[in-house]
Amino acid sequence: MTTPIYYVNDAPHVGHAYCTVNADAVARWHRLKGDETLFLTGTDEHGQKVAEAAEAHGLSPQLWTDQTSQRFQDAWQELEVSNDQFIRTTEPRHYATVQHFLQAIYDNGYIYRDTYRGPYCVSCEDYYTADQLDHGLCPVHGREVTEMEEDNYFFKLSAFEDRLIAWYEANPKGIRPDTKRNEALSFIRGGLRDISITRTSLSWGVPVPWDEKHVFYVWYDALINYLTALGYGTEASTLDTWWPSVHHLIGKEIIRFHCVWWPAMCMAAGIEPPANIIVHGWLLVGGQKLSKSMADNSDAPVRLTDIAPHVLVEDFGVDAIRYHLLRDTPLGTDGEFSYEGIVSRYNADLANNLGNLAQRIATVITSKCEGVAPAPPSGGPLAEEVARHAAAAVEAWDRFAPHEALEQTWKIIAAANAHLETHEPWKGEAGSGEVAKTLGGALEALRIVTVLASPAMPDACGEIQRRIGLVADPEAQLDDLLTWGSGNPGALVEKGDPLFPRRKADSA
Ligand code: MSP
Repeated sequence: MTTPIYYVNDAPHVGHAYCTVNADAVARWHRLKGDETLFLTGTDEHGQKVAEAAEAHGLSPQLWTDQTSQRFQDAWQELEVSNDQFIRTTEPRHYATVQHFLQAIYDNGYIYRDTYRGPYCVSCEDYYTADQLDHGLCPVHGREVTEMEEDNYFFKLSAFEDRLIAWYEANPKGIRPDTKRNEALSFIRGGLRDISITRTSLSWGVPVPWDEKHVFYVWYDALINYLTALGYGTEASTLDTWWPSVHHLIGKEIIRFHCVWWPAMCMAAGIEPPANIIVHGWLLVGGQKLSKSMADNSDAPVRLTDIAPHVLVEDFGVDAIRYHLLRDTPLGTDGEFSYEGIVSRYNADLANNLGNLAQRIATVITSKCEGVAPAPPSGGPLAEEVARHAAAAVEAWDRFAPHEALEQTWKIIAAANAHLETHEPWKGEAGSGEVAKTLGGALEALRIVTVLASPAMPDACGEIQRRIGLVADPEAQLDDLLTWGSGNPGALVEKGDPLFPRRKADSA
Protein backbone atom coordinates (compact mmCIF):
# COMPACT_ATOMS: atom_id res chain seq x y z
CA MET A 1 0.00 0.00 0.00
CA THR A 2 1.45 3.38 -0.95
CA THR A 3 0.61 7.08 -0.77
CA PRO A 4 2.16 9.58 -3.16
CA ILE A 5 5.30 11.08 -1.69
CA TYR A 6 4.57 14.67 -0.73
CA TYR A 7 6.42 17.70 -2.03
CA VAL A 8 8.31 19.51 0.68
CA ASN A 9 7.78 22.96 -0.83
CA ASP A 10 5.19 23.52 1.88
CA ALA A 11 3.87 22.16 5.17
CA PRO A 12 1.53 19.16 5.45
CA HIS A 13 -2.16 20.11 5.22
CA VAL A 14 -5.47 18.36 5.62
CA GLY A 15 -5.62 17.38 1.92
CA HIS A 16 -2.42 15.36 2.37
CA ALA A 17 -3.87 13.91 5.57
CA TYR A 18 -6.96 12.77 3.66
CA CYS A 19 -4.87 10.61 1.34
CA THR A 20 -2.51 9.32 4.02
CA VAL A 21 -5.23 8.41 6.53
CA ASN A 22 -7.23 6.56 3.88
CA ALA A 23 -4.17 4.57 2.85
CA ASP A 24 -3.37 3.91 6.51
CA ALA A 25 -6.85 2.64 7.31
CA VAL A 26 -6.76 0.23 4.38
CA ALA A 27 -3.27 -0.97 5.39
CA ARG A 28 -4.50 -1.51 8.96
CA TRP A 29 -7.52 -3.40 7.62
CA HIS A 30 -5.25 -5.78 5.71
CA ARG A 31 -3.03 -6.33 8.74
CA LEU A 32 -6.17 -7.12 10.74
CA LYS A 33 -7.10 -9.69 8.09
CA GLY A 34 -3.72 -11.28 8.57
CA ASP A 35 -2.43 -10.22 5.13
CA GLU A 36 1.28 -9.55 4.95
CA THR A 37 1.33 -5.80 4.52
CA LEU A 38 3.95 -3.20 3.67
CA PHE A 39 2.74 0.39 3.86
CA LEU A 40 4.83 3.23 2.44
CA THR A 41 4.75 6.98 2.49
CA GLY A 42 7.42 9.65 2.22
CA THR A 43 8.54 12.99 0.84
CA ASP A 44 9.44 14.14 -2.66
CA GLU A 45 12.38 16.47 -2.13
CA HIS A 46 13.88 17.38 -5.50
CA GLY A 47 12.89 19.71 -8.32
CA GLN A 48 12.63 23.38 -9.02
CA LYS A 49 9.61 23.99 -6.78
CA VAL A 50 11.43 22.68 -3.70
CA ALA A 51 14.65 24.48 -4.64
CA GLU A 52 12.68 27.74 -4.94
CA ALA A 53 10.97 27.20 -1.57
CA ALA A 54 14.35 26.63 0.10
CA GLU A 55 15.74 29.79 -1.45
CA ALA A 56 12.70 31.81 -0.41
CA HIS A 57 13.35 30.70 3.18
CA GLY A 58 17.05 31.47 2.95
CA LEU A 59 18.05 27.85 3.53
CA SER A 60 20.03 25.31 1.55
CA PRO A 61 17.78 22.78 -0.21
CA GLN A 62 19.08 20.01 2.07
CA LEU A 63 18.38 21.90 5.29
CA TRP A 64 14.97 23.00 4.07
CA THR A 65 13.99 19.49 2.99
CA ASP A 66 15.27 18.02 6.27
CA GLN A 67 13.05 20.40 8.22
CA THR A 68 9.98 20.07 6.03
CA SER A 69 10.19 16.30 5.67
CA GLN A 70 10.27 16.13 9.47
CA ARG A 71 7.01 18.08 9.60
CA PHE A 72 5.36 15.40 7.46
CA GLN A 73 6.77 12.66 9.65
CA ASP A 74 5.50 14.47 12.76
CA ALA A 75 2.06 15.00 11.25
CA TRP A 76 1.73 11.31 10.39
CA GLN A 77 2.83 10.33 13.85
CA GLU A 78 0.16 12.57 15.37
CA LEU A 79 -2.43 11.01 13.10
CA GLU A 80 -1.23 7.53 14.12
CA VAL A 81 -0.28 6.58 10.61
CA SER A 82 1.27 3.11 10.68
CA ASN A 83 3.65 3.31 7.73
CA ASP A 84 6.37 0.65 7.70
CA GLN A 85 8.80 2.90 5.86
CA PHE A 86 9.17 6.60 5.21
CA ILE A 87 11.02 7.26 1.97
CA ARG A 88 12.92 10.47 1.41
CA THR A 89 14.13 11.01 -2.13
CA THR A 90 17.35 12.59 -0.86
CA GLU A 91 18.39 9.32 0.81
CA PRO A 92 21.38 7.47 -0.70
CA ARG A 93 19.26 4.31 -1.07
CA HIS A 94 16.87 6.22 -3.33
CA TYR A 95 19.71 7.51 -5.49
CA ALA A 96 20.96 3.96 -5.88
CA THR A 97 17.57 2.60 -6.92
CA VAL A 98 16.82 5.48 -9.31
CA GLN A 99 20.18 5.14 -11.02
CA HIS A 100 19.86 1.37 -11.32
CA PHE A 101 16.32 1.58 -12.70
CA LEU A 102 17.10 4.32 -15.23
CA GLN A 103 20.34 2.74 -16.32
CA ALA A 104 18.26 -0.35 -17.15
CA ILE A 105 15.88 1.77 -19.28
CA TYR A 106 18.86 3.45 -20.96
CA ASP A 107 20.50 0.10 -21.65
CA ASN A 108 17.23 -1.19 -23.10
CA GLY A 109 17.33 1.65 -25.64
CA TYR A 110 14.37 3.73 -24.45
CA ILE A 111 16.29 6.90 -23.62
CA TYR A 112 17.76 9.32 -26.21
CA ARG A 113 19.11 12.88 -26.28
CA ASP A 114 17.34 15.86 -27.90
CA THR A 115 16.43 19.52 -27.48
CA TYR A 116 13.05 20.53 -26.16
CA ARG A 117 11.24 23.82 -25.98
CA GLY A 118 7.79 24.49 -24.51
CA PRO A 119 5.65 26.08 -21.80
CA TYR A 120 6.60 24.76 -18.36
CA CYS A 121 4.63 24.93 -15.08
CA VAL A 122 6.88 24.93 -12.03
CA SER A 123 4.01 23.82 -9.74
CA CYS A 124 3.36 20.75 -11.91
CA GLU A 125 7.05 20.40 -12.69
CA ASP A 126 5.89 19.54 -16.19
CA TYR A 127 5.82 20.77 -19.78
CA TYR A 128 2.56 21.47 -21.61
CA THR A 129 1.70 21.93 -25.25
CA ALA A 130 0.15 25.25 -26.21
CA ASP A 131 -3.28 23.67 -26.73
CA GLN A 132 -3.25 22.11 -23.25
CA LEU A 133 -3.01 25.54 -21.59
CA ASP A 134 -6.06 27.27 -20.19
CA HIS A 135 -6.03 30.84 -21.52
CA GLY A 136 -2.27 30.64 -21.54
CA LEU A 137 -2.11 29.47 -17.91
CA CYS A 138 -1.37 26.08 -16.35
CA PRO A 139 -4.59 24.01 -16.59
CA VAL A 140 -4.05 22.59 -13.06
CA HIS A 141 -2.71 25.55 -11.09
CA GLY A 142 -3.95 28.51 -13.12
CA ARG A 143 -0.49 30.02 -12.78
CA GLU A 144 1.83 31.56 -15.35
CA VAL A 145 3.90 29.10 -17.33
CA THR A 146 7.46 29.82 -18.45
CA GLU A 147 8.89 29.06 -21.85
CA MET A 148 11.78 26.64 -21.34
CA GLU A 149 14.31 25.21 -23.72
CA GLU A 150 16.64 22.43 -22.73
CA ASP A 151 19.02 19.94 -24.20
CA ASN A 152 17.77 16.87 -22.43
CA TYR A 153 17.44 13.14 -22.34
CA PHE A 154 14.06 11.83 -23.41
CA PHE A 155 12.12 8.71 -22.54
CA LYS A 156 10.45 7.03 -25.53
CA LEU A 157 6.98 7.06 -24.03
CA SER A 158 5.51 6.99 -27.54
CA ALA A 159 6.89 3.46 -27.99
CA PHE A 160 4.52 2.19 -25.27
CA GLU A 161 1.14 3.26 -26.63
CA ASP A 162 0.09 -0.18 -27.82
CA ARG A 163 1.57 -1.99 -24.85
CA LEU A 164 -0.21 0.35 -22.45
CA ILE A 165 -3.54 -0.10 -24.20
CA ALA A 166 -3.07 -3.88 -24.11
CA TRP A 167 -2.22 -3.68 -20.42
CA TYR A 168 -5.35 -1.63 -19.69
CA GLU A 169 -7.48 -4.10 -21.58
CA ALA A 170 -5.99 -7.05 -19.74
CA ASN A 171 -6.57 -5.34 -16.36
CA PRO A 172 -10.08 -3.90 -16.33
CA LYS A 173 -9.95 -3.34 -12.55
CA GLY A 174 -6.34 -2.16 -12.48
CA ILE A 175 -7.31 1.50 -12.11
CA ARG A 176 -10.32 2.58 -10.11
CA PRO A 177 -12.80 4.21 -10.35
CA ASP A 178 -13.73 3.42 -13.96
CA THR A 179 -14.14 7.11 -14.82
CA LYS A 180 -10.46 7.71 -14.00
CA ARG A 181 -9.37 4.60 -15.85
CA ASN A 182 -11.22 5.85 -18.93
CA GLU A 183 -9.62 9.27 -18.55
CA ALA A 184 -6.14 7.74 -18.59
CA LEU A 185 -7.00 5.39 -21.43
CA SER A 186 -8.31 8.18 -23.64
CA PHE A 187 -5.17 10.18 -22.91
CA ILE A 188 -3.12 7.23 -24.19
CA ARG A 189 -5.38 6.74 -27.20
CA GLY A 190 -4.95 10.43 -28.00
CA GLY A 191 -1.28 9.71 -28.72
CA LEU A 192 1.77 9.87 -26.46
CA ARG A 193 4.71 12.20 -26.82
CA ASP A 194 8.17 11.33 -25.57
CA ILE A 195 9.02 13.01 -22.29
CA SER A 196 12.00 15.00 -21.22
CA ILE A 197 13.42 13.28 -18.16
CA THR A 198 16.56 15.25 -17.29
CA ARG A 199 17.45 18.83 -16.43
CA THR A 200 20.59 20.88 -16.69
CA SER A 201 18.87 24.07 -15.47
CA LEU A 202 19.16 22.98 -11.85
CA SER A 203 21.41 20.73 -9.83
CA TRP A 204 18.93 19.76 -7.11
CA GLY A 205 18.18 16.24 -8.28
CA VAL A 206 19.51 12.72 -8.73
CA PRO A 207 22.56 12.74 -11.07
CA VAL A 208 22.18 10.90 -14.38
CA PRO A 209 24.60 7.96 -14.13
CA TRP A 210 25.76 8.10 -17.77
CA ASP A 211 26.04 11.93 -17.97
CA GLU A 212 26.77 13.71 -14.69
CA LYS A 213 26.02 17.18 -16.09
CA HIS A 214 22.32 16.28 -15.91
CA VAL A 215 20.00 15.50 -13.04
CA PHE A 216 16.77 13.57 -13.44
CA TYR A 217 13.54 15.49 -13.71
CA VAL A 218 11.79 15.33 -10.33
CA TRP A 219 8.77 13.24 -11.43
CA TYR A 220 11.09 10.78 -13.03
CA ASP A 221 12.95 10.20 -9.79
CA ALA A 222 9.86 10.43 -7.56
CA LEU A 223 7.86 7.59 -9.11
CA ILE A 224 10.74 5.22 -8.50
CA ASN A 225 10.41 5.71 -4.71
CA TYR A 226 7.98 2.81 -4.70
CA LEU A 227 10.88 0.55 -5.66
CA THR A 228 13.42 2.22 -3.38
CA ALA A 229 11.44 0.87 -0.46
CA LEU A 230 11.91 -2.65 -1.84
CA GLY A 231 15.67 -2.25 -2.22
CA TYR A 232 15.33 -2.65 -6.01
CA GLY A 233 18.74 -3.02 -7.59
CA THR A 234 20.45 -4.16 -4.39
CA GLU A 235 21.29 -7.64 -3.11
CA ALA A 236 18.61 -7.27 -0.46
CA SER A 237 15.84 -6.57 -2.99
CA THR A 238 12.38 -7.71 -1.87
CA LEU A 239 10.85 -7.08 -5.29
CA ASP A 240 9.91 -10.74 -5.65
CA THR A 241 7.90 -10.59 -2.43
CA TRP A 242 5.99 -7.36 -3.00
CA TRP A 243 5.92 -6.46 -6.67
CA PRO A 244 3.70 -6.01 -8.67
CA SER A 245 0.95 -6.61 -6.08
CA VAL A 246 0.86 -2.98 -4.98
CA HIS A 247 -2.01 -0.57 -4.37
CA HIS A 248 -1.06 3.02 -5.22
CA LEU A 249 -3.50 5.52 -3.72
CA ILE A 250 -3.18 8.83 -5.61
CA GLY A 251 -5.00 12.13 -6.12
CA LYS A 252 -6.79 12.84 -9.38
CA GLU A 253 -4.32 15.44 -10.67
CA ILE A 254 -1.45 12.96 -10.84
CA ILE A 255 -3.19 10.31 -12.93
CA ARG A 256 -1.04 10.90 -16.00
CA PHE A 257 2.17 10.29 -14.09
CA HIS A 258 0.95 7.14 -12.33
CA CYS A 259 -1.36 5.62 -14.92
CA VAL A 260 0.62 6.41 -18.09
CA TRP A 261 4.26 7.19 -17.35
CA TRP A 262 4.81 4.80 -14.47
CA PRO A 263 3.50 1.60 -16.09
CA ALA A 264 5.47 2.47 -19.24
CA MET A 265 8.62 3.10 -17.20
CA CYS A 266 8.19 -0.29 -15.52
CA MET A 267 7.77 -1.98 -18.89
CA ALA A 268 10.87 -0.20 -20.22
CA ALA A 269 12.95 -1.34 -17.24
CA GLY A 270 11.70 -4.89 -17.64
CA ILE A 271 9.48 -5.20 -14.59
CA GLU A 272 5.71 -5.65 -14.29
CA PRO A 273 3.58 -2.49 -14.03
CA PRO A 274 1.82 -1.90 -10.68
CA ALA A 275 -1.24 -4.09 -10.16
CA ASN A 276 -3.63 -1.50 -8.81
CA ILE A 277 -4.06 2.27 -8.74
CA ILE A 278 -6.87 3.91 -6.78
CA VAL A 279 -7.65 7.53 -7.62
CA HIS A 280 -9.21 9.88 -5.09
CA GLY A 281 -10.68 13.38 -5.40
CA TRP A 282 -9.88 16.56 -3.51
CA LEU A 283 -11.04 18.09 -0.28
CA LEU A 284 -12.20 21.61 -0.95
CA VAL A 285 -13.06 24.62 1.13
CA GLY A 286 -15.87 26.35 -0.70
CA GLY A 287 -14.57 29.82 0.01
CA GLN A 288 -16.43 29.99 3.30
CA LYS A 289 -14.52 31.21 6.28
CA LEU A 290 -13.59 28.55 8.78
CA SER A 291 -12.94 29.01 12.45
CA LYS A 292 -10.22 31.17 13.84
CA SER A 293 -8.66 28.16 15.52
CA MET A 294 -7.94 26.69 12.10
CA ALA A 295 -6.24 29.64 10.47
CA ASP A 296 -3.63 32.20 11.38
CA ASN A 297 -5.41 35.11 9.82
CA SER A 298 -9.06 35.35 10.78
CA ASP A 299 -9.89 37.99 8.19
CA ALA A 300 -8.66 36.13 5.14
CA PRO A 301 -10.75 33.33 3.65
CA VAL A 302 -9.26 30.06 4.81
CA ARG A 303 -7.51 28.00 2.20
CA LEU A 304 -7.45 24.26 2.66
CA THR A 305 -3.69 24.37 2.46
CA ASP A 306 -3.64 26.50 5.63
CA ILE A 307 -5.32 23.81 7.70
CA ALA A 308 -2.64 21.90 9.56
CA PRO A 309 -3.49 18.34 10.62
CA HIS A 310 -2.03 18.86 14.10
CA VAL A 311 -4.42 21.75 14.82
CA LEU A 312 -7.38 19.51 14.02
CA VAL A 313 -5.97 16.71 16.17
CA GLU A 314 -5.51 19.08 19.11
CA ASP A 315 -9.04 20.34 18.70
CA PHE A 316 -10.99 17.12 18.12
CA GLY A 317 -8.69 14.24 18.98
CA VAL A 318 -6.99 11.87 16.58
CA ASP A 319 -9.83 9.35 16.33
CA ALA A 320 -12.42 11.98 15.47
CA ILE A 321 -10.28 13.48 12.71
CA ARG A 322 -9.39 10.14 11.24
CA TYR A 323 -13.05 9.17 11.30
CA HIS A 324 -14.06 12.39 9.60
CA LEU A 325 -11.47 12.05 6.84
CA LEU A 326 -12.52 8.47 6.15
CA ARG A 327 -16.26 8.84 6.50
CA ASP A 328 -17.10 12.18 4.96
CA THR A 329 -15.63 12.08 1.45
CA PRO A 330 -15.79 8.78 -0.45
CA LEU A 331 -12.60 7.88 -2.27
CA GLY A 332 -13.12 8.97 -5.87
CA THR A 333 -15.22 12.12 -5.40
CA ASP A 334 -14.41 15.64 -4.22
CA GLY A 335 -15.65 16.65 -0.79
CA GLU A 336 -16.38 19.89 0.96
CA PHE A 337 -14.27 20.30 4.09
CA SER A 338 -15.59 22.56 6.83
CA TYR A 339 -15.34 23.05 10.57
CA GLU A 340 -19.13 22.92 10.86
CA GLY A 341 -19.09 19.62 8.97
CA ILE A 342 -16.63 18.11 11.43
CA VAL A 343 -18.63 19.29 14.45
CA SER A 344 -21.94 18.00 13.17
CA ARG A 345 -20.59 14.60 12.19
CA TYR A 346 -18.67 14.40 15.46
CA ASN A 347 -21.83 15.07 17.46
CA ALA A 348 -24.07 12.77 15.42
CA ASP A 349 -21.82 9.78 14.82
CA LEU A 350 -19.31 9.85 17.65
CA ALA A 351 -20.94 11.58 20.64
CA ASN A 352 -24.58 10.50 20.08
CA ASN A 353 -24.09 7.11 18.47
CA LEU A 354 -20.83 5.33 19.28
CA GLY A 355 -19.98 7.21 22.48
CA ASN A 356 -23.50 7.00 23.79
CA LEU A 357 -23.79 3.27 23.06
CA ALA A 358 -20.53 2.46 24.84
CA GLN A 359 -21.45 4.67 27.79
CA ARG A 360 -24.97 3.30 28.16
CA ILE A 361 -23.88 -0.31 28.01
CA ALA A 362 -21.16 0.16 30.63
CA THR A 363 -23.43 2.20 32.91
CA VAL A 364 -26.32 -0.27 32.88
CA ILE A 365 -24.03 -3.31 33.19
CA THR A 366 -22.55 -1.60 36.26
CA SER A 367 -25.93 -0.88 37.83
CA LYS A 368 -27.83 -4.04 36.84
CA CYS A 369 -25.19 -6.77 36.45
CA GLU A 370 -22.62 -5.80 39.11
CA GLY A 371 -20.26 -4.69 36.35
CA VAL A 372 -19.89 -8.20 34.91
CA ALA A 373 -20.28 -8.67 31.14
CA PRO A 374 -23.34 -10.84 30.40
CA ALA A 375 -23.26 -13.46 27.62
CA PRO A 376 -25.17 -12.58 24.43
CA PRO A 377 -28.18 -14.67 23.35
CA SER A 378 -27.15 -17.33 20.85
CA GLY A 379 -29.01 -15.61 18.00
CA GLY A 380 -32.04 -13.43 17.30
CA PRO A 381 -32.87 -10.35 15.25
CA LEU A 382 -29.99 -8.20 16.58
CA ALA A 383 -27.44 -10.93 15.86
CA GLU A 384 -28.79 -11.27 12.33
CA GLU A 385 -28.69 -7.55 11.69
CA VAL A 386 -25.13 -7.33 13.00
CA ALA A 387 -24.00 -10.20 10.75
CA ARG A 388 -25.56 -8.58 7.69
CA HIS A 389 -23.95 -5.18 8.21
CA ALA A 390 -20.64 -6.70 9.28
CA ALA A 391 -20.46 -8.70 6.04
CA ALA A 392 -21.16 -5.51 4.06
CA ALA A 393 -18.49 -3.61 6.00
CA VAL A 394 -15.91 -6.33 5.31
CA GLU A 395 -16.74 -6.24 1.62
CA ALA A 396 -16.41 -2.42 1.58
CA TRP A 397 -13.03 -2.42 3.35
CA ASP A 398 -11.81 -5.00 0.81
CA ARG A 399 -12.97 -2.74 -2.02
CA PHE A 400 -11.14 0.39 -0.77
CA ALA A 401 -14.36 2.04 0.35
CA PRO A 402 -13.67 3.08 3.97
CA HIS A 403 -16.62 5.48 4.00
CA GLU A 404 -18.99 2.61 3.18
CA ALA A 405 -17.34 0.26 5.66
CA LEU A 406 -17.94 2.87 8.36
CA GLU A 407 -21.48 3.55 7.20
CA GLN A 408 -22.28 -0.15 7.58
CA THR A 409 -20.55 -0.28 10.94
CA TRP A 410 -22.63 2.65 12.15
CA LYS A 411 -25.77 0.73 11.14
CA ILE A 412 -24.73 -1.83 13.75
CA ILE A 413 -24.43 0.96 16.31
CA ALA A 414 -27.90 2.25 15.39
CA ALA A 415 -29.34 -1.27 15.67
CA ALA A 416 -27.75 -1.78 19.09
CA ASN A 417 -29.02 1.59 20.37
CA ALA A 418 -32.52 0.77 19.05
CA HIS A 419 -32.33 -2.64 20.74
CA LEU A 420 -31.58 -0.96 24.07
CA GLU A 421 -34.40 1.54 23.62
CA THR A 422 -36.90 -1.20 22.81
CA HIS A 423 -35.98 -3.37 25.78
CA GLU A 424 -35.07 -0.62 28.27
CA PRO A 425 -32.78 -2.73 30.45
CA TRP A 426 -32.29 0.24 32.80
CA LYS A 427 -35.92 -0.29 33.91
CA GLY A 428 -35.55 -4.06 34.35
CA GLU A 429 -34.84 -6.00 37.51
CA ALA A 430 -31.15 -6.12 38.46
CA GLY A 431 -29.66 -9.57 37.84
CA SER A 432 -32.66 -10.80 35.80
CA GLY A 433 -32.17 -13.04 32.78
CA GLU A 434 -34.04 -10.61 30.56
CA VAL A 435 -31.79 -7.68 31.46
CA ALA A 436 -28.66 -9.82 30.99
CA LYS A 437 -29.87 -10.98 27.58
CA THR A 438 -30.56 -7.44 26.36
CA LEU A 439 -27.24 -6.09 27.60
CA GLY A 440 -25.30 -9.14 26.45
CA GLY A 441 -26.65 -8.62 22.91
CA ALA A 442 -25.85 -4.91 22.85
CA LEU A 443 -22.38 -5.55 24.27
CA GLU A 444 -21.67 -8.15 21.61
CA ALA A 445 -22.75 -5.72 18.88
CA LEU A 446 -20.46 -3.08 20.39
CA ARG A 447 -17.56 -5.53 20.46
CA ILE A 448 -18.00 -6.30 16.76
CA VAL A 449 -18.15 -2.55 16.05
CA THR A 450 -14.77 -2.10 17.74
CA VAL A 451 -13.27 -4.70 15.40
CA LEU A 452 -14.73 -3.22 12.21
CA ALA A 453 -13.93 0.38 13.13
CA SER A 454 -10.43 -0.28 14.48
CA PRO A 455 -8.60 0.54 11.21
CA ALA A 456 -10.29 3.94 11.30
CA MET A 457 -10.10 4.69 15.02
CA PRO A 458 -7.42 2.52 16.59
CA ASP A 459 -7.30 4.38 19.92
CA ALA A 460 -11.01 4.69 20.63
CA CYS A 461 -11.67 1.08 19.62
CA GLY A 462 -8.79 -0.11 21.78
CA GLU A 463 -10.10 1.89 24.73
CA ILE A 464 -13.64 0.54 24.37
CA GLN A 465 -12.25 -2.99 24.17
CA ARG A 466 -10.24 -2.38 27.33
CA ARG A 467 -13.30 -1.02 29.14
CA ILE A 468 -15.42 -4.04 28.21
CA GLY A 469 -12.71 -6.40 29.43
CA LEU A 470 -11.37 -7.73 26.12
CA VAL A 471 -7.76 -8.77 25.98
CA ALA A 472 -6.20 -8.29 22.56
CA ASP A 473 -5.07 -11.58 21.07
CA PRO A 474 -2.56 -10.98 18.25
CA GLU A 475 -3.18 -14.50 16.97
CA ALA A 476 -6.93 -14.01 16.62
CA GLN A 477 -8.37 -14.48 13.13
CA LEU A 478 -10.63 -11.78 11.75
CA ASP A 479 -13.45 -14.27 11.03
CA ASP A 480 -13.43 -15.37 14.65
CA LEU A 481 -13.39 -11.79 15.92
CA LEU A 482 -16.44 -11.04 13.79
CA THR A 483 -18.35 -14.14 14.89
CA TRP A 484 -21.33 -13.45 17.15
CA GLY A 485 -20.64 -14.96 20.56
CA SER A 486 -16.84 -14.81 20.51
CA GLY A 487 -16.70 -12.08 23.20
CA ASN A 488 -15.62 -12.45 26.77
CA PRO A 489 -18.66 -12.87 29.06
CA GLY A 490 -17.77 -12.68 32.74
CA ALA A 491 -15.21 -9.92 32.19
CA LEU A 492 -15.35 -6.84 34.38
CA VAL A 493 -16.75 -3.80 32.59
CA GLU A 494 -15.53 -0.32 33.41
CA LYS A 495 -17.58 2.84 32.95
CA GLY A 496 -14.96 5.54 32.31
CA ASP A 497 -15.47 9.08 31.08
CA PRO A 498 -17.39 9.81 27.88
CA LEU A 499 -15.11 9.05 24.93
CA PHE A 500 -16.57 11.75 22.72
CA PRO A 501 -18.06 14.57 24.81
CA ARG A 502 -20.62 16.55 22.81
CA ARG A 503 -19.41 19.73 21.12
CA LYS A 504 -21.45 22.88 20.88
CA ALA A 505 -22.27 23.60 17.25
CA ASP A 506 -20.80 27.09 17.57
CA SER A 507 -17.70 26.05 19.47
CA ALA A 508 -15.63 27.33 16.55
N1 MSP B 1 5.21 14.83 -5.18
C1 MSP B 1 4.10 14.55 -6.00
C2 MSP B 1 3.73 13.07 -5.91
C3 MSP B 1 4.82 12.12 -6.32
S1 MSP B 1 4.33 10.47 -6.12
C4 MSP B 1 5.50 9.58 -6.85
C5 MSP B 1 2.91 15.38 -5.55
N2 MSP B 1 2.98 15.88 -4.31
S2 MSP B 1 1.87 16.82 -3.64
O1 MSP B 1 2.35 17.07 -2.32
O2 MSP B 1 1.62 17.96 -4.48
O3 MSP B 1 0.55 16.01 -3.62
C6 MSP B 1 0.53 14.74 -3.04
C7 MSP B 1 -0.87 14.20 -2.94
O4 MSP B 1 -1.66 15.03 -2.08
C8 MSP B 1 -1.60 14.13 -4.28
O5 MSP B 1 -2.12 12.83 -4.47
C9 MSP B 1 -2.71 15.13 -4.13
O6 MSP B 1 -3.88 14.74 -4.79
C10 MSP B 1 -2.92 15.13 -2.62
N3 MSP B 1 -3.60 16.35 -2.24
C11 MSP B 1 -3.11 17.62 -2.23
N4 MSP B 1 -4.13 18.47 -1.94
C12 MSP B 1 -5.27 17.78 -1.76
C13 MSP B 1 -6.57 18.10 -1.39
N5 MSP B 1 -6.96 19.33 -1.20
N6 MSP B 1 -7.44 17.08 -1.20
C14 MSP B 1 -7.06 15.77 -1.33
N7 MSP B 1 -5.85 15.44 -1.70
C15 MSP B 1 -4.97 16.43 -2.06
O7 MSP B 1 1.97 15.51 -6.30
